[in-house]
Amino acid sequence: MTHAAFPELRLRRTRRTAWSRAMVRENHLTPANLIWPLFVCAGEGADEPIASLPGVSRWSVDLIVERAKEAIDAGIPCLALFPYTQADRRSDDGAEALNPDNLMCRAVRAIKAAHGDAIGVLTDVALDPYTSHGQDGLIDASGHVLNDETVDVLVGQALNQARAGADIIAPSDMMDGRIGAIRAALEGDGFGHVQIMSYAAKYASAFYGPFRDAVGSRGLLKGDKKSYQMDPANAEEALREVAQDLAEGADSVMVKPGLPYLDVVARVKAAFEVPVFAYQVSGEYAMIEAAAAAGAGDRDALVLETLLAFRRAGASGILTYHALHAARLLNG
Ligand code: PBG
Repeated sequence: MTHAAFPELRLRRTRRTAWSRAMVRENHLTPANLIWPLFVCAGEGADEPIASLPGVSRWSVDLIVERAKEAIDAGIPCLALFPYTQADRRSDDGAEALNPDNLMCRAVRAIKAAHGDAIGVLTDVALDPYTSHGQDGLIDASGHVLNDETVDVLVGQALNQARAGADIIAPSDMMDGRIGAIRAALEGDGFGHVQIMSYAAKYASAFYGPFRDAVGSRGLLKGDKKSYQMDPANAEEALREVAQDLAEGADSVMVKPGLPYLDVVARVKAAFEVPVFAYQVSGEYAMIEAAAAAGAGDRDALVLETLLAFRRAGASGILTYHALHAARLLNG
């Protein structure tokens, strides 16, 4: 006797065995979907743990090259680099961003020299790791972040990174017009092949705290970033941001943070049908680590479930501090 009014609608049938679940699975997560953010610091053999990002360190360039090898071996296609700039190299105008020998450029050159095209290198364009005030751009006397003056510096920063060998320029600053300006400068300087992944919909979020510790900007930051990063209440505006950045020449776009903004990932993917990436940011990583440490869930399962959720929402890939761990889990 059956208890179902419509036995032909037993959705549990396909879930009964592992082979059947595999056969009907709609979305997949592989190491190729992961981008690994790394923090570069000065020195040699330097490994500086970041207390608010347990398990993540800043590494000096020589150790970053080793991390790149681990990523290649695990099937991760791309690294994202961020610098921890020494205090005496931070300034009001963030000029260290333009130094061809800054930490970012040295790391890019070293990774490319050691590994060539075995792995891609994505570099962050924004001034916050270099400014003495922790804002992503130049500020006026009142502390307001200036748009067009900042874009001029970001163009120089992007060219500096491209000359060092960056494969993907990733502006995370949220100034208006920077994608078009950077695209034009890259074309004009012989870097037409260099991609731009725009942080197109980046929100003024409370989830960035550990990152600001990692790049050393948390204690420096005065005020907030709400005059340029998006209001968490808005989703339509994210579509306008994405449309604008694509029109200006972005090859792919990013939504950031990740899990709290999966609706935005899905809407952007549906509206534009372009490669969309999501950044599972530092505060999200820290939450998963804290939940696992508190016994609230299994760490590996939490990591894989959250990353798969981004794929279901339509993301081509995810920037995540769990990238190496997740890739190794996926490789078995
Ligand atoms: C700033 C930048 C931030 C992150 C990436 N680039 C922080 C911010 O906007 O203050 C955050 C990434 C993370 O939290 O993991 N250009």
